[in-house]
This record gives sequence, C-alpha cells and structure tokens, in this order.
Amino acid sequence: MEDLSLHILDIAENCITAQASRVEIKIVEDSRANFMSVEVNDNGKGMDKELLENATDPFYTTRTTRKVGLGIPLLAQSARESNGDISVKSEIGKGTSIRTTFQYDHIDRRPLGDITQTMIILIMSNPDIDFLFEYKKNDNSYNLDTTEIKQDLDGIPINEPEVIRIIKNDISTWLNTHDNMIK
Ligand SMILES: Nc1ncnc2c1ncn2[C@@H]1O[C@H](COP(=O)(O)OP(=O)(O)OP(=O)(O)O)[C@@H](O)[C@H]1O
Ligand SMILES: [Mg+2]
Repeated sequence: MEDLSLHILDIAENCITAQASRVEIKIVEDSRANFMSVEVNDNGKGMDKELLENATDPFYTTRTTRKVGLGIPLLAQSARESNGDISVKSEIGKGTSIRTTFQYDHIDRRPLGDITQTMIILIMSNPDIDFLFEYKKNDNSYNLDTTEIKQDLDGIPINEPEVIRIIKNDISTWLNTHDNMIK
C-alpha cells in the first residue's frame, strides 16, 4: 500500500514526538545479496517494556485521539509481505531503533518512493533536529548529516528555501546517478 519513503516519514515522526534531537535514517540496498534494509534510530525518550512489546500490535497506542497506532504495525506488515522482518529496540531515556528487512526482488516489496521528499519534509519542518541520511546502494553510498551542514551554514537557518533547494538537489542528483545501477 505505502512506499517505503512514506513508512520512513511515519516512523521518523514517532521519533520527533518522542522528543529526539537526532534521527538517523539508514537504507541498504544490495541487489546481489537480494536484500534491503531500512533503519531509523533516535535518541528520544524511548519506550518502556510494555510499550515495546506492543509496538508492532495495531491495537496498541499511547495516543489518546485515536485507538489504534498504525505507524509501526504497517511497516511490520510491509516487511513481512516481502519475506522480511522488523525489530524494535528501545531503552527509556536513551532512544529507539527500528530496523526492517526486505527481500529485494520480492514481488510485494514496496518501492522506495520519493525519499528526497521525505528527507526534505523532515528537515524543513524540524530545523532544530539533526538528521543523518545514509543510503548504501551496492558498492556506492550517500551520506547527508545536517549537523555538518549546520556548521557550514554559520547561523543561516537550515530551512531557508535556498538551503533546502541545495539539499534537495544534492540528494536527487545522487539518486539519479545511482538509479538502477547494478555494479
Ligand atoms: N521512536 C519512538 N520513541 C518512543 N516511543 C515510540 C517511538 N515510536 C513509537 N513509539 C510509541 O509506540 C506507539 C505506537 O507507534 P505507532 O507509530 O505505531 O502509532 P502512533 O504513533 O501511536 O499512531 P500513528 O502512527 O498511527 O499516528 C506510539 O504511540 C508511541 O507511544
Ligand atoms: Mg506513529
């Protein structure tokens, strides 16, 4: 149903709700090993044991506005549909780490979708949060760390349109260059 990029957006929004100051998004795509993984790590408030045990259950949520939390269960479903799995690790006061795996060439494996857009939305709407975006595609890898970008910006807000335009360009140029490149 959903592209992986939309799942990533959902999962990263959980990190922001959990008051994380740093969110790491790591994608590995290895066509030779027929493997793909998506990892989202944060340094937010973490989950207690009960919450952690129920995190992949669609009928469990700490939200009060709605009865079912769907972000994690839907990602879990997407992983399992493509012969993959999900693991959720969390520690109170330390943070949370969610890792999903997929069989790369599985017919039901969700496409990555517009990951540039996901990263841009996250960075634009959360200028005070640090984001690391890492994408390993076979032998190539891409890295974007807003901590480093902010240092270079010397006080200019990271969500200034011109800065966002440069970041967007950087991600999409790399993606276009390495699209469908089997090495
Ligand atoms: N990164 C995180 N850090 C701390 N707690 C988290 C994190 N991610 C999820 N949780 C907890 O797990 C619950 C379930 O998350 P999930 O994304 O599945 O549903 P939701 O966020 O409650 O609702 P929805 O995503 O459907 O809007 C959340 O309500 C929250 O309490
Ligand atoms: Mg959520």
